Amino acid sequence: MYKTVLQRMGMKTCMPRPFSTSSRLNYKVAVLGAGGGIGQPLSMLLKTNTKVSELALFDIKGGPGVAADIGHINTSSNVNGYSPDDKGLERALKGADVVVIPAGVPRKPGMTRDDLFKTNASIVRDLAFAAGETAPNAKYLVVTNPVNSTVPIFKKALARVGVHQPKHLFGVTTLDSVRASRFASQATNGLAEILRIPVVGGHSGATIVPLLSQGRVDLTGADRDSLVHRIQFGGDEVVKAKAGAGSATLSMAYAGARMASSVIRALDGESGVEECTFVESPLFKDQGIDYFSSRVTLGKDGVETIHPVGPINEYEEGLLKVALGDLKKSIEKGEHFVA
Ligand code: NAD
Ligand code: LMR
Repeated sequence: MYKTVLQRMGMKTCMPRPFSTSSRLNYKVAVLGAGGGIGQPLSMLLKTNTKVSELALFDIKGGPGVAADIGHINTSSNVNGYSPDDKGLERALKGADVVVIPAGVPRKPGMTRDDLFKTNASIVRDLAFAAGETAPNAKYLVVTNPVNSTVPIFKKALARVGVHQPKHLFGVTTLDSVRASRFASQATNGLAEILRIPVVGGHSGATIVPLLSQGRVDLTGADRDSLVHRIQFGGDEVVKAKAGAGSATLSMAYAGARMASSVIRALDGESGVEECTFVESPLFKDQGIDYFSSRVTLGKDGVETIHPVGPINEYEEGLLKVALGDLKKSIEKGEHFVA
């Protein structure tokens, strides 16, 4: 049956939806950093997700205002806003099934994602401590950059409070997949909605490795190089165009809502839900790399199957080699921060 993009994301449309007796429609999602450029549109998209019954919007600034606004949208879920007063963070986290974390500062022109480390590392660490204490069984979706380091930070902090479960922690790299589909469609006159290109590695520059060959995009030479470069450095395009006002927020909200929806659909028992995501991974452990983004099948308990990179061509092997070197350093930096 034909499904719209919104339906595939689990979102409301005018089309009747088949009734399923096994489906739960009462997931609680907490967004930490909900008042920000990503947090606001992401929360709005989550308000249209029919499986979400409760949205908890926490920010050090503006959570209640965003919640009051989004709470007027005529879907059934309840929306509550929280500030740091009166144990707001704990109340937002209590009972959450999924916690999405876009809290932290974004880039300005001339900065790398790694330049955000000194501000965002402690924000992510402290939120992870709180999440581990209050919502130890939630699935955590880390958006905050630099993702290649903030995910190891989150893990170390959870481990510190004794609740780390590797299957529950995800670095959100969905925007790279979204961009790969869109940019490849522009380069080949294909359909962005159906082009699926696995993007493996991590989430910054050369660590982003789009596997065009697996998406059956058979460009070569300069055309291939410029498409790969655009996918790897798509974030810079937005940072430059926003000229100091931040980085991608709206496309990221779309990507974050898709990732959250995929995780919830899988928790709810849907089989075969797959996303590329940055997780604790055995794939390159023998090279000292404990986290890697590859195709992951999601399940009732989070990560179900981590798929290998699969067949790649010589060019992609070269990209992967560079990515692995960069990744190792960023992961170690994150791990040492909490250790
Ligand atoms: P923003 O500045 O617009 O919003 C960030 C929000 O976080 C603000 O509202 C701020 O008050 C809040 N915040 C700060 N410290 C907090 C804390 N301790 N607890 C709760 N909230 C806190 O920034 P943005 O554009 O929304 O970007 C947020 C982060 O997401 C940045 O680090 C950015 O680099 C990253 N990002 C990641 C991806 C990705 O693909 N993973 C894509 C785009 C942006
Ligand atoms: C992106 O890919 O757009 C984000 O990681 C934000 C950034 O800093 O580029």
